[in-house]
Amino acid sequence: MPWRIAVPADKSIAQRALILSAMASGESLLRGALGGLDTRSTAAALAALGAEVSRPGGGGPGDLRIFGRGLGSWSAPDGVLELGNSGTGARLLAGAIAAHPISAVLAGDRSLSRRPMARIARPLARMGAAVEYLEMPGRLPMRVTGGSLAPLVHESSVASAQVKSSLLLAGVGAGVPIEVREPTRSRDHTERLLEAMGAAVAEGEADGGWRVRVPRPPSRLEPIELEIPGDFSSAASLVTAWVLGRPGDAIEVRGVGVNPTRTGFLGVLSRMGVSVEVAERERRAGEAVGEVRVWAPSERLRPVEVGRDEVPALIDELPLVAVLAARAEGVTTITGAGELRVKESDRLETLARNLQRVGVAAEETPDGLVVEGTGRRLWGEVRSFGDHRIAMAFGALNADPGCSVEVLDGEVAEVSYPGFWRALARMRSGEGGGSPSQATAPGAGPEFDAAAEDTPEARPDPDCLVVAIDGAAASGKSTTSREVAELLGYRHLDSGALYRAVAAQLVADGMGEGALGEMTAEWVNGLAIQLLWKGGRMELRSRGRRIAESERRDERVNAIVSQVAASPVVRDYLLPMQRTSAKGPGLVAEGRDIGTVVFPDAAVKVFLQADARVRATRRLLQRGARRPSEAEVGAEAAKLLLRDRRDASRAAAPLRRATDAVLIDTTATSPSEQVRMIVELVRGARSS
Ligand code: S3P
Repeated sequence: MPWRIAVPADKSIAQRALILSAMASGESLLRGALGGLDTRSTAAALAALGAEVSRPGGGGPGDLRIFGRGLGSWSAPDGVLELGNSGTGARLLAGAIAAHPISAVLAGDRSLSRRPMARIARPLARMGAAVEYLEMPGRLPMRVTGGSLAPLVHESSVASAQVKSSLLLAGVGAGVPIEVREPTRSRDHTERLLEAMGAAVAEGEADGGWRVRVPRPPSRLEPIELEIPGDFSSAASLVTAWVLGRPGDAIEVRGVGVNPTRTGFLGVLSRMGVSVEVAERERRAGEAVGEVRVWAPSERLRPVEVGRDEVPALIDELPLVAVLAARAEGVTTITGAGELRVKESDRLETLARNLQRVGVAAEETPDGLVVEGTGRRLWGEVRSFGDHRIAMAFGALNADPGCSVEVLDGEVAEVSYPGFWRALARMRSGEGGGSPSQATAPGAGPEFDAAAEDTPEARPDPDCLVVAIDGAAASGKSTTSREVAELLGYRHLDSGALYRAVAAQLVADGMGEGALGEMTAEWVNGLAIQLLWKGGRMELRSRGRRIAESERRDERVNAIVSQVAASPVVRDYLLPMQRTSAKGPGLVAEGRDIGTVVFPDAAVKVFLQADARVRATRRLLQRGARRPSEAEVGAEAAKLLLRDRRDASRAAAPLRRATDAVLIDTTATSPSEQVRMIVELVRGARSS
């Protein structure tokens, strides 16, 4: 049985679906659309352009509803449209904006501000739009001013789906015929979506290249309902890790887009000696979706030659080809890939540099790469240069047991694959040493949901009423929160248990207190903590292994938990998990930063406090003491005060009362009294 996984939504398809839905007439529902950071930037830009973008109630975490008011309906945004790292977002939006009688400034992060925009700005200007560069010629930020456009036949010198799509959106948006020719066929997601929404697209080979036309744009686009297919490029990064790390074993990716203009990587894999099988299961908005099954060979990979014609269908997977080539038996040559120089980084340079750093003989050429494979041990630290695909490629290389490669700035993977490092860690560890092919494999159970929704920007479900209960140690949070949750039928999130689970796994890994200061995001990701919900109660796992309450309360865990909880990397890691717990009718969340950081918009906020000696007595009784002596109480109270001070003075999410939290002093009130007060507050919030 193969290891089964699923991957988050394809950002190429999601961004196109978002933009086209905002141009359509009526309400579209895009399931799983809100995944990586790129998609989020594009969705935010569309909202700023006046499209109605909202989260449908009762859906999945990434679902979006978009209400389009028809072609030409966008309005000028108030501020700059920040596209972050998203080249697709910037270029496609520029085309769609050009079809509107409005002006908008598009900007991006450092990486995006280095990428060429003239390739779209020039043809858009020929159609009649005005494009003004605000800082550097040919680069973002730029102001696009649109209006009524003229038809265009454009001969693109590069095979770029972004150029093609930008112009198709401009033509369809403005209702004028548009034709784009490219030297080799690039990905055709825009064409397929346009067809699904009622526009007739003609395409085919022409003059040795590829030609796409929308000769008679429709007067309206129909809204769509679409579950965004899994991202083939994300799948390819895990498949690469698998091929390098699990010789002899099979992996299966389900629910993934298998559009042939994207899957060129599989052809290269099979030439390297990997068995590959693709099963198409369904069509969604014209996109083929199915399974990809790959068997990692037991022998060394074969080197390959990758040439110009096949580059567009594996453009984003070339970094993966390069790291696979580093372990092949012989020399691999990539040519005709000059476009890699203008991606999120100059990928030819960053690949060559990183490969050399870890001990591989690799050289860049003007339009490609030569890599001499080696079976020697590879090790060293590499940088992503702000490029998600570089980060993931070297993360995948590290899955090879003969490699020890650390990506120093791997967080950038979130651009397209939120949860990548956790998925990789699960795959490498075999879910705590068990057989990876069993039901615990990622994707087979609820844990996949968690991976897909854990992004740094994960937001709580707006329909879920959140009750935030904060307070110092032993102030009565746990009992009160549990009872409130039970009474209301809400989920109960004990955020302290999450920090304890991290600490428990560190203890299980034999990590001493001294090592805590060196914890990196990657290290924490490698713990692969999962929060699963079983009928309103939480279950915690690390690398697939359940961490029971008794383990979380172990003395060794007590000794390090407050230090673990003070670590900003740990807090960042656990934040999205907490936010996405807000599902269903309500959530009672307890901790120290719930009302301030985790759920600053919680409907009800409570801060519990109590006299230190009263808290100390409670704590000692909880631990089984019968009648604690004055001295014991005094010593415990001192410890609690010390802990309070540490919690309140830490840099990351210090313990403090949110200004809008209701203060309840529990020194003299009973738990049932507290529960009653909080339930009252919830009722009040609900009725208002
Ligand atoms: C994309 C097209 C490709 C690809 C990028 C996404 C798209 O870029 O590298 O990651 O969604 O259209 P080019 O069209 O510039 O080759």
